[in-house]
Amino acid sequence: MIYLDYAATSWPKPPEVLKAMVDFLERAGGNPGRSGHRLSIAAGRVINEAREAAAECFGSGDPLRVIFTPNVTYALNVGLQALLQPGDRVVTTGIEHNSVMRPLRELAKTGLDLVVAPCDPTGGIDLDALRRLVTPGTRLVVANHASNVVGTILPAADIAAISHHAGALFMLDAAQTAGVLPIDLKTLDVDLFAFTGHKGLHGPPGTGGLILGERVDVDAMRPVFAGGTGSRSEREQQPEILPDKFEVGTPNGVGIAGLAAGIRHVMAHGIAAIRSDEMALTAQLCAGLTTIPGVQIYGPGSPAARTATVSVTLAGKSVSEVGWRLDDEFEILTRVGLHCSPATHRTIGTFPEGTVRLAPGLATTPAEIDATLRALSAIARG
Ligand SMILES: Cc1ncc(COP(=O)(O)O)c(C=O)c1O
Repeated sequence: MIYLDYAATSWPKPPEVLKAMVDFLERAGGNPGRSGHRLSIAAGRVINEAREAAAECFGSGDPLRVIFTPNVTYALNVGLQALLQPGDRVVTTGIEHNSVMRPLRELAKTGLDLVVAPCDPTGGIDLDALRRLVTPGTRLVVANHASNVVGTILPAADIAAISHHAGALFMLDAAQTAGVLPIDLKTLDVDLFAFTGHKGLHGPPGTGGLILGERVDVDAMRPVFAGGTGSRSEREQQPEILPDKFEVGTPNGVGIAGLAAGIRHVMAHGIAAIRSDEMALTAQLCAGLTTIPGVQIYGPGSPAARTATVSVTLAGKSVSEVGWRLDDEFEILTRVGLHCSPATHRTIGTFPEGTVRLAPGLATTPAEIDATLRALSAIARG
């Protein structure tokens, strides 16, 4: 079997991740921050270490500003709902995932002034157009770090500078880049950084987080959910301290233990090395695809401008037929359709049919890319 669906979730997970999860359940199974006994303290330690690992991985100075969530969708929703008020102006882009678009469209129903900055057919953003749309007084700019459909990497540091120049905060959806591109939050100057644990960080499903930068005034944010934290139990109001203001209820300790092991795994491997291997796989894949008659590749031409996520269509074949035949005849696992991002497919001109998405990752080999190219050639021929 050849797994080319890393953009949906990474598989297989590193053995350390499985071990960390079993260890947590066996040795640290108490409720963290609640009871005072050894199993509770052990669980709390695992979660604190995970917070430190996430802060270190992304260059955030303060682990307490790492808020764990069940995935990036929750992280984005928490950031948006905690920050935004009716009447606020928010600018986003034409290549966002529905986990950004849908919450923003919901907020627009209650008076949010939502503007979508157009992207070009390769998924790239016109920074001059963006600059014109991010008018003074804009509250927030939200952008994808890399498209989950065509892999296009957006210039996060430039978007941050444009946002800050207008007095806006900048939120980055790093679902496709955490663990895949080297990221330093101080250099990128991101204010709200949302990541998921189960893709490039190789953690289990049910993990993710939001990292708040120093520019974010936490006191001015609403707690989106309220409930037990184990802290300030004498009060009936949500504690203002971080991360408790935004982390309520018993955390997914077993998942967070696995996430920490995944983060340590990618850091030990070296994210720069992962990036360079994935660029080589992308170059091999795209070069081979251009030789197959009828294949159209979407997204930027240069591997440096994109992640390893490559979308294609085959002339005369529906994407569902191609995806089904890749799986059924060749045991190659891809994802077809709209990839939860109708905005991107409108931008690149593939709405409503969508594309076949080939998304190699950490464990993909050059031989697997060759086998995929042979399979696509065979499908293209008949
Ligand atoms: C760019 C982008 N944003 C958000 C998400 C949502 O991720 P999750 O399901 O982990 O919340 C994805 C996942 O496909 C994504 O690719």
